[in-house]
Amino acid sequence: MSEPTHASSGASCAGSRRERLDLAGRRIVLGLSGGIACYKSAELLRLLTQAGADVHVVMTAGAQRFITLDTMQALSGHPVATDIWDAREPNGMPHINLTRGADAVLVAPASADFIARLAQGRAEDLLSLVCLARPWGVGERPVPLLLAPAMNREMWAHPATQRNLAQVSADGALVLGVDSGAQACGEIGDGRMLEAAALLEELVAALAPKPLAGRRVLITAGPTFEAIDPVRGITNLSSGKMGFAIARAAREAGAEVTLVAGPVHLATPRGVRRIDVRSATQMHEAVLPIAAAQDLFVATAAVADWRPASLSAQKIKKDGKKVAPTFELAENPDILAAVAALPQRPYCVGFAAESEKLEAHAREKLHRKRLPLIVGNLGPATFGRDDNALLLVDAHSTRALPADGQAADKLALARELVQEIARRMAQEAA
Ligand code: C5P
Repeated sequence: MSEPTHASSGASCAGSRRERLDLAGRRIVLGLSGGIACYKSAELLRLLTQAGADVHVVMTAGAQRFITLDTMQALSGHPVATDIWDAREPNGMPHINLTRGADAVLVAPASADFIARLAQGRAEDLLSLVCLARPWGVGERPVPLLLAPAMNREMWAHPATQRNLAQVSADGALVLGVDSGAQACGEIGDGRMLEAAALLEELVAALAPKPLAGRRVLITAGPTFEAIDPVRGITNLSSGKMGFAIARAAREAGAEVTLVAGPVHLATPRGVRRIDVRSATQMHEAVLPIAAAQDLFVATAAVADWRPASLSAQKIKKDGKKVAPTFELAENPDILAAVAALPQRPYCVGFAAESEKLEAHAREKLHRKRLPLIVGNLGPATFGRDDNALLLVDAHSTRALPADGQAADKLALARELVQEIARRMAQEAA
């Protein structure tokens, strides 16, 4: 795979706002085999090019029944390759030229027949030939092959298809999906191709460096909600976006990720196990039993410090009373401090969301909770937003991320933070 890391390829300046180009500098071969899901491949191609990729499309004869060459040529900016004997190629070898220098081959949709052909190593159509002839492991720079199957549920469940999928996986292909739901044929079940955005997320993850391969990572995210009565509670403005971005970045880095989320309205990053909780007590109960088995714990959640000492069974009514109700507060368990105090503790990273004196407050938490690293951010400036500015504080140093201290996209920051944490974990283990 070529070298640009997320950190270097991740941001480009458009005016004053930094935009993420997750596939900048990447060359992708997008293959389409025959299936109605081809209609989604136009959207996928658009997302790939918007993410900065240079995309070259290869279509089988079957695919051309569902979507035109003109559509895919217009969206990719290149003629679509269809023919093994393409005379436009100076050396007459499109099957070689297409993948030399490519970063990945993504076949979406991959039909049952196409997967069967791959499993047998057949090469009578250009797309099968491209997959077979791609650098896959003998040379220095293998080109990963990703397959997004799409087919009727009976075809998907058939032992022949499952056998072929097992074979192509054993041969090194990465199978993405499938989704379940309503199918074009009117039946309901497994076999739908993943949506374009999900395929983009999977491709970006497949191309990412893997410093956390085989590591277990636990992340808390979002606010907590401390109930006062059945309809009211104490919460805060944390959106969970930073924690969710870190979960995605950790998964991209190869980790097995568990995300314990307070009440937020965010989609689960692909490949991440999510446990939903509401209160600090529930978050504590979800985290503690699994914490010792983790390699890394990142506590981004804005956990409420206190909860009402008792929960009113019914809604507290005004009932014409002039005096506002009062209630006692009880202290919530400190989840991060409890994990950091475990005899077999994971590498623990805390967050400090402050409104002022960021470094001083962060450093105080670093010592109080006995952490190797704490990440400071200004809560009011970042809660709910897609960008953030971080301050990495350890026992010896303080470092701004990004270095210029300006706000940057949360996912770009999360990727840099994960790489930095992985470096520190490796150093600690050495
Ligand atoms: O000063 P504070 O205790 O709020 O420190 C914030 C850090 O501690 C964050 O990483 C937060 O997720 C974590 N925390 C926790 N449980 C609490 C309070 C904070 O895990 N009850």
